[in-house]
Amino acid sequence: MNTRRELPSSPYLAAAAGRTPNRVPVWFMRQAGRSLPEYRQLRATHKMLDACFDAELVTEITLQPVRRHQVDAAILFSDIVVPLRGAGIDLDIVPDVGPVIAHPIRTDADVAAIKPLDPQQVAPVSDAVSLLVAALGEVPLIGFAGAPFTLASYLVEGGPSKNHERTKAMMFGAPQTWHALMTALTDITIGFLQVQLAAGVDAIQVFDSWAGTLSLRDYRTHVLPHSSRVFATLADAGVPMTHFGVGTAELLGAMSEAGAGVVGVDWRTALADAATRVRPGTALQGNLDPVVLLAGWEVAQQHTRAVIEDGRRAVAAGAAAHIFNLGHGVLPPTDPGIITDLVALVKSL
Ligand code: CP3
Repeated sequence: MNTRRELPSSPYLAAAAGRTPNRVPVWFMRQAGRSLPEYRQLRATHKMLDACFDAELVTEITLQPVRRHQVDAAILFSDIVVPLRGAGIDLDIVPDVGPVIAHPIRTDADVAAIKPLDPQQVAPVSDAVSLLVAALGEVPLIGFAGAPFTLASYLVEGGPSKNHERTKAMMFGAPQTWHALMTALTDITIGFLQVQLAAGVDAIQVFDSWAGTLSLRDYRTHVLPHSSRVFATLADAGVPMTHFGVGTAELLGAMSEAGAGVVGVDWRTALADAATRVRPGTALQGNLDPVVLLAGWEVAQQHTRAVIEDGRRAVAAGAAAHIFNLGHGVLPPTDPGIITDLVALVKSL
């Protein structure tokens, strides 16, 4: 394992570790990607998953938004399905659709055939992290993985899904199969994050993007024990950990029990309310509605000021710190100039 670097002047790392930063840090989920012309140019000649397995491309695409917007953290350019391919699952990322699985996982035999993640299969990710840590200077690098539930949804449905029908049907109707699937995916999530930690990422974020489709009771019974194992296993690495999902107003307390020190909040829940739902001393990340950035600068700056105010109320209500972000990822039609101006505005407030 590399010795992890110390970045004492990073406001992102201070806030994510639950300390008080000297200003509100700002970065964006999906800050790399289709909102940037330099990204689209690179992707014109490389398929999404091919790019994820090319260390030089991963490095360049990760750096693009840092150069352009001066954000306070880089997030590794990859995808939540990368470790699934590294575990031998046949899948692709189809433009404007998302991940598509060649043979969806529906039976005990399908689950038993899932192989553990072979770190060799994701060696380009590890190489990219090493290159990035050297290139980023004082800017911290966030590694990430999909949470077991969100990965399970893609594998069971075979692709993106609105209602997660087959996934929930397995969860409710075949709980032993479900538990075995979640156990295998939890191992893959942990393995993928351990590869990134060994290569030197400064923080990690776990995306349980679709957890909000579950009731609190079902989340607690069928998902929380597995997500808790992810954070319990990785706590020893000593880096800040963030747990994020969409539509999770009812789940924020349970998600915070899973063990991460930072909880990501979508735009539906005020940060000051979120502060009363998570464990005391949790830092909050969020939560500007990404669509606001499509409504022009005047609207964007008003909403941004309101989120900063809300973050202050959250801290007054017991949150350890506020990390400015969107409530979900940057949308492809977003004007990159607005993102750059927004970073400058947050830094000035
Ligand atoms: O945040 C970042 O800048 C890092 C990059 C990142 C990507 N995917 C790159 C990507 C991250 C953190 C992810 C995670 C991811 N992937 C999640 C969790 C986060 C979230 O948004 O909720 C999920 C659910 C996926 C699965 C996935 N991959 C989807 C739904 C899509 C979009 C499909 C589409 O084309 O609309 C992808 C593809 C993907 N992942 C793209 C990028 C930049 C778009 C690929 C392209 O440029 O064509």
